[in-house]
Amino acid sequence: PRIWAVLPAAGRGTRFGGEVPKQYLEAAGKTLIAHALDALLSHPRVDGAMVALAADDLRWPGWTSRHGKPLLRCTGGGERADSVLAALRALPGDVDEDALVLVHDAARPNLRAADLNRLIDVASAHADGAILGAPVRDTLKRADADARIVATEPRSALWRAFTPQAFRRGALTSALERARAEGVLVTDEAMAMERTGAHPALVEGREDNLKVTTPADLALAEYLLARLTE
Ligand code: CTP
Ligand code: MG
Repeated sequence: PRIWAVLPAAGRGTRFGGEVPKQYLEAAGKTLIAHALDALLSHPRVDGAMVALAADDLRWPGWTSRHGKPLLRCTGGGERADSVLAALRALPGDVDEDALVLVHDAARPNLRAADLNRLIDVASAHADGAILGAPVRDTLKRADADARIVATEPRSALWRAFTPQAFRRGALTSALERARAEGVLVTDEAMAMERTGAHPALVEGREDNLKVTTPADLALAEYLLARLTE
């Protein structure tokens, strides 16, 4: 089956602030969305990409292909999950139900080929799909409403969820439609799948596959991207 990338890029970057949505900010010579697209489309096993853009987006450069592969666009929605669902529905008809979709944040520019490769391998072999992530390293505190510590939480079974998140197109579309119908806001694709009883695999990836949320993250991304050959 084929493999397509899906990039939700319809966010406004309210936590980042400023005029320009963060996916269009530059680091190490190109925009964050260009870094994300290149990491995916330069991979030999990825066949194409669909980006979900805000309805009033005037900054999209109008790319229709990259690395010799189709690059399509559609209009996203009010929440990240709405944008992902819109992109899944807009995929070409020949991307069948069993095709693997790699959902990746447009604001996550430092995805490395080795991580993507291992994710594709695991997701291809696992019916419930797979996501990149990393074990939690900090000690975790539970707090009350006044920020007083109530408990220290065991962390050995806890992971941070990154993207890409890789699932079969049909299964993910149904899972997202179901979450929406039930009025549940899912913050990643795995959460939608988990609610259907699936147990996606966790693939340990590089911790520098960071999502740019604040200006400090952009400075870190710039530093990392300038050293992409390492
Ligand atoms: N996203 C999207 N559609 C939305 C909201 C978010 O496609 N309605 C995308 C963002 O463009 C980003 C990714 O989902 O690539 C991760 O979301 P996040 O980091 O939360 O980005 P924003 O929503 O833009 O930022 P903020 O929450 O600070 O406003
Ligand atoms: Mg957001």
